[in-house]
Amino acid sequence: RKVFKFAMLAVMALALVVSAVGCGGSQPKEQAKEPAKTDAKPKLVVGSDTTFAPFEFTDPKTGKYIGFDVDLIQAIADEAGYELDFQSMAFDGLIAALQANQIDAAISAMTITPERAKVVDFSEPYYKSGLIVAVQAKNNDIKGFNDLKGKKIAVQSGTTGAMQAEKATDKDKITYFTNTDQALLELKNGGVDAVINDYPVSAYFIQQGNNDVKLVGEILSAEEYGIAVPKGKTETLEKINAALKKLKENGKYAEIYKKWFGEEPK
Ligand code: ARG
Repeated sequence: RKVFKFAMLAVMALALVVSAVGCGGSQPKEQAKEPAKTDAKPKLVVGSDTTFAPFEFTDPKTGKYIGFDVDLIQAIADEAGYELDFQSMAFDGLIAALQANQIDAAISAMTITPERAKVVDFSEPYYKSGLIVAVQAKNNDIKGFNDLKGKKIAVQSGTTGAMQAEKATDKDKITYFTNTDQALLELKNGGVDAVINDYPVSAYFIQQGNNDVKLVGEILSAEEYGIAVPKGKTETLEKINAALKKLKENGKYAEIYKKWFGEEPK
């Protein structure tokens, strides 16, 4: 009997504790949730290969990601009401990450190409670019794309520069790097004869004090950069395009462009 009584008491005590916690605990929790719910913005997870100055790179002073694309996608996210989640990843993994829906968008100085447009959707173009050949400053025999046959070329994997190198020389003469910086350093070190890369990026590299490298020949093939989204994500794409249009109209795009390129948008 004593045992039974004790058990009854224990059950009652437990019930009291549970109900007390239940009431007291849930009240403030509910209140705390309310405001968060109203100003929570949908997240936009954006992938980028952050080794491509001045489009996306790490600020050596603060360790933060900076660049034209970084400012532009932040402005787009603000305009479209997204909370930006910017993630750094290898360039040649971006398309797969989009296809697997691991990211909502990619901004990475990515050229809009027909091959890519088969597997991802692109925003309206946001930057006009093109490829250029870089060689050592002391090199006098390579004067442009037509002199690259049989030459050793370094490129970044998965880029339009890599595709162009495959047309310009033999496949076994091409060295593929994960980062563009690595390809340009290989050129500086004399490991290759040339680098094929986006003009503004190779030009920026030289400007940063790499005077032992020079650009030769014409800028090849007009390219345009676009923001990529997974195929069929029309709502995201429409929001991005609407925001981009707005930023072009209200001067914000021009402001970001001038900040990074020192001139008015072309
Ligand atoms: N525009 C070139 C392409 O689309 C190179 C882009 C490389 N971008 C980067 N962030 N590494 O292939």
